[in-house]
Amino acid sequence: MFAGPIKPLLLALMTVLCARHSQAGNLAPSKLRCEHLETALAVESPHPILAWGLVANTSGQFQTAYQIRVASSRDKAAHDRFDLWDSGKVSDSRITQVAYAGKPVKPSQSVFWQVRVWDSANVPSEWSPLAHWKSAPNLSANGDAQWISASVPRPLHQDRQTLHLPPALQFRKTFEIANTIRRATLYLSALGDAAPSLNGKPASEQYFLPGWSDYRHRAYYRALDVTPHLQPGPNTLGITLADGWYSGYVGYGLLLGYGPYKGGRYLYGKDPAVLAQLVVEFENGNRKTVATDSTWRWNDEGPVREADLLMGEHFDARNARAWDTPSFDDSTWKKAVPAGTVPSVTAPFHDTTGQRTVDLGFKKPDTLQSYPSPPVRVVETLQPKHITEPSKGVYLFDFGTNFAGNVQLKVRGDRGQKIVLRYGETLHADGSLMTENLRKARATDTYICSGAPEGETWTPRFTYHGFQFVEVSGLRSKPSLDLLSGLVLQSDTPITAAFECSDPVINQLFRNIQRTQRSNFIDIPTDCPQRDERLGWLGDAQIYIRSATYHAEVFAFFTKWLSDLREAQRSTGAYPDYAPYPMAHGESGKPFSSGWMDAGVICPHTLWKVYGNTDVIDRQWPSMKRFMEFRESLSPDFKGVSVGNPWGDWLNQQDATPIEWIDAAYFAHSAQLMAEMAEATGRTDDAAHYRGVFEKVRTEFIRAVIGRDGTVSGASQTACVLALDFGLHPKGGASVIADQLVKLIEKNDFRMSTGFLGTRSLLPVLSKNGRHDIALRLFQSRQFPSWCYPVVNGATSVWERWDSFTKQAGFGRHNASMNSFSHYAFGAVSEWMFRDLAGIDLAEPGFKKIRLVPAPPPKQPTSEVTATESPSAPPLNFVKASYDSPVGIIVSEWKREMDTLTFRFVVPPNVDADLLLPASDSNHVTVVKGGAALLKPNEGTPHYRLVPGEHVLRVDEKPTDPKQ
Ligand code: BGC
Repeated sequence: MFAGPIKPLLLALMTVLCARHSQAGNLAPSKLRCEHLETALAVESPHPILAWGLVANTSGQFQTAYQIRVASSRDKAAHDRFDLWDSGKVSDSRITQVAYAGKPVKPSQSVFWQVRVWDSANVPSEWSPLAHWKSAPNLSANGDAQWISASVPRPLHQDRQTLHLPPALQFRKTFEIANTIRRATLYLSALGDAAPSLNGKPASEQYFLPGWSDYRHRAYYRALDVTPHLQPGPNTLGITLADGWYSGYVGYGLLLGYGPYKGGRYLYGKDPAVLAQLVVEFENGNRKTVATDSTWRWNDEGPVREADLLMGEHFDARNARAWDTPSFDDSTWKKAVPAGTVPSVTAPFHDTTGQRTVDLGFKKPDTLQSYPSPPVRVVETLQPKHITEPSKGVYLFDFGTNFAGNVQLKVRGDRGQKIVLRYGETLHADGSLMTENLRKARATDTYICSGAPEGETWTPRFTYHGFQFVEVSGLRSKPSLDLLSGLVLQSDTPITAAFECSDPVINQLFRNIQRTQRSNFIDIPTDCPQRDERLGWLGDAQIYIRSATYHAEVFAFFTKWLSDLREAQRSTGAYPDYAPYPMAHGESGKPFSSGWMDAGVICPHTLWKVYGNTDVIDRQWPSMKRFMEFRESLSPDFKGVSVGNPWGDWLNQQDATPIEWIDAAYFAHSAQLMAEMAEATGRTDDAAHYRGVFEKVRTEFIRAVIGRDGTVSGASQTACVLALDFGLHPKGGASVIADQLVKLIEKNDFRMSTGFLGTRSLLPVLSKNGRHDIALRLFQSRQFPSWCYPVVNGATSVWERWDSFTKQAGFGRHNASMNSFSHYAFGAVSEWMFRDLAGIDLAEPGFKKIRLVPAPPPKQPTSEVTATESPSAPPLNFVKASYDSPVGIIVSEWKREMDTLTFRFVVPPNVDADLLLPASDSNHVTVVKGGAALLKPNEGTPHYRLVPGEHVLRVDEKPTDPKQ
């Protein structure tokens, strides 16, 4: 209608009018986060990273600008006095990675912020509700808080043959509150596992405080908002302190004879210690600090008689007192002492580095660091499904699913009645509890009833178990189901994935993967939650991290673990097998392994790619560089080597891959990822260097491994997978190796034979190299070994072995000591399920641009699942996936009905998506909804640009009439 110069003018005028008269634009900010957390109460960075989500009420909306304003109090914000920062209107589409650039924030300062955004038509939104973060305290400057311990040191247990499980310590302090409280924050660190309480009630729902680190160097602290727990007048702060990872049983220490006196405990020190500082801010502007010092009192006669992560808890309710309330008389309690005054003690420490003498006395950690991850807490409550009585008076509760956590016991018992709870993942054929696979983890909780006539409720606080079944003994009559409920524990990483398809076995597989991730993301990514291991194995983490990012928001969780990993780095530059690393295991003096140590590069790379945050690269860079120097020093001639622990392609099916090949493949891969990260952060020289390293290792690999015909000589399936996945073949040589891989699979009766390393990328490389049909066939296969095999054998979680249990042969050939029913490594197939099958991928780091490449089964597959492989597998004729990505919810769905494939996508506001549709050409595609724009007409695979909003496209698959 209007043309020429008048048009922009009119548009500008309309924009101004709209801005004045409309309530808000078509975009609104939501879900504000600081440092990737909704609640960040001890932010250490002076320039914390801010982020928000966007909600649009029409399609095609992009953020054209934002404005952030920040105030030092809620009051000031309410009066529009944003004294710390007003960014002004910034023309920028970014909704993540916006660094705070206001006035310096003082220690322990509360900060209130909000954001508004401008939509595509340059109309601003309303301001978001206020969000809040708090800067980290200067714990050492305030100086009040001291590390305190019990004044009577515990005896040093030296007998490996007997368990030593000392009672938890209780520390208490009463103080006065005389003014009106605005806010109260408890800063809490411990060498051990601390549970705070205030005035008789738990002061936090978080578990395992402050978290696992190398306590001799660095301890985490938590910041807890305890405002609602305080009252006018006298108050009492209590802290129950157990051994935790600091001085309790850890990993397979006891089993293998590691640690002081080979006992598997005291890996960091002997006597737990605690440091706490409660900062109470009053309405009148004053502050009061209550901090640990020698005026605190302690006792070890409370109800928690044993408290150990692996062994379990013993709670004697007869000892329960109102010890953490002001009216309690603590005159018989002993005075706490500064931890440094407890006499130190030395002991011989054993592990595969050899015997050495260590000091187990208190050592003040060099650093106190704010805990950067979401805390471990109860995220779900499960009810038991049924009860059996395998032997007289012994009852077995079945929760119907494998999970990690605890139970809540609700019982009415006689005073002194002893109830014993044993945990297990499965049952023996005779219906009794199977616990052999827990190895030295006793996994037993005991409750002694107080006899309260109204009944009593208890849940263990200082332990967790991986289980499905709980055996209860000591009851006086047959229990009902409500005796127990299951408390699912995990680091509370928000779930981001949903997946459903036409194959119910696959749907169960998806739930199993989700469940297994939950069970193993407990403070660190563990290998398993049940046996005496629960270590942060690097191999498992690197294999699974990309899948993990689909299932949950794991940036902050992995940030925590990367700190542990940096700290665990050996003086040689090698990353060890697991982090934290309190004891060396395996090859003496060479505690690293190819494919495992490379997690130190792969994990930061994945986090950067998925979340778009280059800070993670900068933080890890010096450590990663040292690691690469180490790798380069191992292989001066760029050949793969076999040194360190020979885990190889762990758990492969009699199809081993030479360690040297694995080493070369991962050396090349790490170099390539380093080059990409160097480029992304402007490290040009490093980028060139690592590109060079990659090329040299690749050339050597090709020379050593690829034959004249372009195949991998004497290949295992995994060798082909690695060569394809990491680009280790001559230019244009991928198809030869892909054919070779398919032949190997065919020869193996359409079964995979890959271990940890190969399985992760088996389906991705098949799909990428034109053999999606074979990938699907393996994916839906029900025969051993396959993802569905455990599911049809009853799995509710991902197992360590494909045949950890079978209906025919029970635990079969497996040594129960290496048979975990909750091991996420093989769950790494979910990366393929989301990225390839549903086709949700990133085109740019942080999903700033989305790539949609859905891949339904080919209409006429060249290779189809046979009835013997998969008797119950229905055709895969629909998939529905959604992923709450860093830029918002992405949906990809497809459905095949007769000769029509229908696709539905939802693209979140503010991003474009590139869509590649599996159709021969665009003439067979109908755009039903959403206006997908065809980018390159008549150029093979139809390529569309999708704007934010919902899109539906239909592909006509009717065979063309040959006469036409
Ligand atoms: C763990 C694995 C780990 C492996 C190293 C096992 O005990 O459970 O998942 O990667 O050791 O080979």
